[in-house]
Amino acid sequence: MTRDVHSQIKELLKSRNAVLLAHNYMRDEVQEIADITGDSLGLSIEASKTGADVIVFCGVHFMAESAAILSPDKTVLLPRSDAGCPMADMVSVEGLKELKARYPGVPVVTYVNSSAEVKACSDICCTSANAIKVVKSLQEDEIIFVPDRNLGRWIAQFLPEKRFIYWEGYCPSHERMTLSEVLQRKAEHPDALFVCHPESTPEVSALADHVCSTSGMYEWCRKSAAKKFIIGTEPGILYKLRLENPDKEFILASEALVCPNMKLTSLDDVLSSLQSMTPVIAVSENVRLKAKMALERMLAVPRD
Ligand code: 13P
Ligand code: SF4
Repeated sequence: MTRDVHSQIKELLKSRNAVLLAHNYMRDEVQEIADITGDSLGLSIEASKTGADVIVFCGVHFMAESAAILSPDKTVLLPRSDAGCPMADMVSVEGLKELKARYPGVPVVTYVNSSAEVKACSDICCTSANAIKVVKSLQEDEIIFVPDRNLGRWIAQFLPEKRFIYWEGYCPSHERMTLSEVLQRKAEHPDALFVCHPESTPEVSALADHVCSTSGMYEWCRKSAAKKFIIGTEPGILYKLRLENPDKEFILASEALVCPNMKLTSLDDVLSSLQSMTPVIAVSENVRLKAKMALERMLAVPRD
């Protein structure tokens, strides 16, 4: 049955000249069939350079929107239109405009986990993989960082020359991982290293041996000589970590890390989206052009 769905998806991807992109938090079976898996930065880059006519984005709304912003000539499908991001919803255009009015001339750095409208009101975007380099690339010593307070406070430690004005948004999934749970896991596995995502709270990140984006975790765990890791991010990451490192053990720091939105998309959703060519994610041209400047400015920041 699943094989049947697999082959139907593969056939439709071919006949529609479509590419299937999946975020590292997607269900295992969706990652398995994807053409490309990655973190928010890697997927934005793929979306900007693919030669496909159709992008099937298995992720959440803001990710498909970024693909639509960068590739206006392509059809971008988000198989589950209800897959949103609560953190992205924590910042409104009106609220951001008010904040900007309080700090005239201060550039706005916006995490890609935000709506197209909010990106359009920003100077530059960032992801968890490039946030430090993006902020460093700005001449001003004061910046407004939107919407993730945890990512903002994490990178601020490495940029003492900058003064940060934070939007107090957060990822509910990462904030559900508590300090006491992490201490408990560490006590149970004293030989394990702890790695977490910068969306975690400052007290949890302070306990980590390494803090990085989802793709950064693959690289770090692969290169590490250690054999055991406590993972502080959404459990979708475990699929590829275990596949690529069969000799290593990965323990989830907290069951509460599951992101319900990232778990919505099933293979059946992917199939019906390709059959019906819906739901299409589109961004109005006025907003798209402004948001594109912020995304392209981010993509122009050198990665090394
Ligand atoms: P990255 O893939 O950029 O690490 O982002 C994590 C996340 O929370 C996406 O919603
Ligand atoms: Fe949003 Fe957090 Fe889910 Fe990512 S993991 S989509 S930041 S709620």
